[in-house]
Amino acid sequence: MREAGRILALTHLELEKAIRPGISTWEIDRIGEEIIRSYGCIPSFKNYQGYPASICVSVNDEVVHGIPSRDRILQEGDIVSLDAGVIYRGYHSDAARTHGVGEISKEAQRLIDVTRESFFRGVEYVQPGNHLRDIGRAIQDYAEGFGYSMVRDLVGHGIGANLHEDPQIPNFVSAGRGAKLRPGMTLAIEPMVNEGRYDVVFLDDDWTVVTDDGRLSAHYENTVLVTEDGYEILSLIGGNDECRKRM
Ligand code: MF3
Ligand code: CO
Repeated sequence: MREAGRILALTHLELEKAIRPGISTWEIDRIGEEIIRSYGCIPSFKNYQGYPASICVSVNDEVVHGIPSRDRILQEGDIVSLDAGVIYRGYHSDAARTHGVGEISKEAQRLIDVTRESFFRGVEYVQPGNHLRDIGRAIQDYAEGFGYSMVRDLVGHGIGANLHEDPQIPNFVSAGRGAKLRPGMTLAIEPMVNEGRYDVVFLDDDWTVVTDDGRLSAHYENTVLVTEDGYEILSLIGGNDECRKRM
């Protein structure tokens, strides 16, 4: 899973370079799939429950699971979330990043930064003996402090020999403490943060999830290992130290 995570981290770094006004979301998917296969990995999303692509590309008010299309051309000022998963020797990694396209508004950049930082606030609570709710609370408290809301209808998940395993990992406080963390568990922690209200709508393409109020949404995700004394972020080059730029 370390190797699956490393390859996915590199894939995201490459994909980020491709983001520019004028590129179609279909091209992003094609480039992503090519990178993943060049490492001898399988893009885990392709054909997963019928999902038709390798990379979920979600623009602006699309929260997650946007379907790449030749007709969807990124425009200056958009924000775009890229979510991808790879399988390396039977083991999965799953990670998402949100990028600005060209120059974006201060407000949009703040949403992206807060979403990413909320992940880091949450991951600080990954250690044996803590409960899943500790992670969700830290994520929620941070993002809601900016007036944003946490999507309720989608959550993070365990990951390993399958893309989605138990337990579910809410990015907010819900009933119960949630599972107790133990060394060796592997988690996909993935805050989805809405600029406005938390309500989302599932479109009839069977996949795309959009904000109900039409405002922006951002997503940030990594695959994380619970260690004896804390955590190791598997899908980030440089692991725990990488990109911890505080706002
Ligand atoms: N990355 C998504 C998740 O975190 C999975 C995408 S589902 C797919 O759960 F079908 F699009 F692959
Ligand atoms: Co995930």
